[in-house]
Amino acid sequence: MKCRVCRGQAVIDIRRHNAAFCREHFFEHVQSQVKRSIKTFGMLAPDDKILVAVSGGKDSLALWDILLSLDYKADGLYIGLGIGEYSNFSQEKAEVFATSRGAHLHVVNMKDSYGYDIPQGAVSARRAPCGTCGLSKRYVMNQQACKAGYEVIATGHNLDDEVATLFGNVLHWNLDALSRQRPVLPTEHGFVKKIKPLVRLGEREMAAYCVLRGIDYIVEECPMSEGNTGIRYKEALNEIENASPGTKHQFFFGFLDRGLDHFSEQAGVSAPELKSCSNCGASTTGEICAFCRLRQMATDPERVTVGSPSFRPRRRH
Ligand code: AMP
Ligand code: FES
Ligand code: ZN
Ligand code: ZN
Repeated sequence: MKCRVCRGQAVIDIRRHNAAFCREHFFEHVQSQVKRSIKTFGMLAPDDKILVAVSGGKDSLALWDILLSLDYKADGLYIGLGIGEYSNFSQEKAEVFATSRGAHLHVVNMKDSYGYDIPQGAVSARRAPCGTCGLSKRYVMNQQACKAGYEVIATGHNLDDEVATLFGNVLHWNLDALSRQRPVLPTEHGFVKKIKPLVRLGEREMAAYCVLRGIDYIVEECPMSEGNTGIRYKEALNEIENASPGTKHQFFFGFLDRGLDHFSEQAGVSAPELKSCSNCGASTTGEICAFCRLRQMATDPERVTVGSPSFRPRRRH
């Protein structure tokens, strides 16, 4: 296996690009894919203050590393979810990385700052842990970014994540989620701009990047995500990709080019009116936002405010 660029010994092959790369040219490939996403989707201006949401996993640590190596001003945010050893180890990985790069990492502990952790929140709200976790993380990321004056939040969602989400949204014809499944969500209604610069890179490439760059990350999956439908979709999609490399890329980028606008236009016509959450002021379609309701159920179930039946957060990703 020879490097596509220099014909030296390759360390990785990427079948959907029909290419293999040596260590040096693989780093160049990864950087160029991120630069291409940033440019194509208008993700960043050179001086933007970026908050990278880091989980301690390969994708978000690699993303932070890439943004720093491209000379962006990027700090990290780790959210302590209270999922036992898994949370302790992942926090440690994020901290070790930050120290090694002399980068600033904000750490917010859900229990200390918001009064509940994910296992407890999921039980109290009678919701699946991943739903509770996703809602909490999105809210906390936005609140921390606003508080500390960051212009952009960057997350480590990669091509495999986006394809699995798209697949699930199509299977269930979740029109609302389809209308918002884009690599950039602009600043609006009190939400800080959100970007996913790794959308052109797959899971395997991100793991290889970390290993080759000497980035130590948490390999274990979250113990609460067992049986999660997203994981099943990824397995099914991997089988299809193995048989026809490039299918995932075509599915996702084909959707962005030819499908997304239809869903966005429809969503614009039927968008419910936005109000301010009576508790925290965040934009919501009900009286009280989904996060405040979850937090009330988890910390003070006796005093849960009844929201309108259609209440939901305006933005999910
Ligand atoms: P997940 O929702 O676990 O698929 O993670 C998607 C992205 O959310 C990651 O790539 C990170 O950017 C971010 N993220 C996940 N967990 C955390 C966490 N505990 N703290 C901060 N950001 C996180
Ligand atoms: Fe959120 Fe596991 S990381 S439920
Ligand atoms: Zn090479
Ligand atoms: Zn609220």
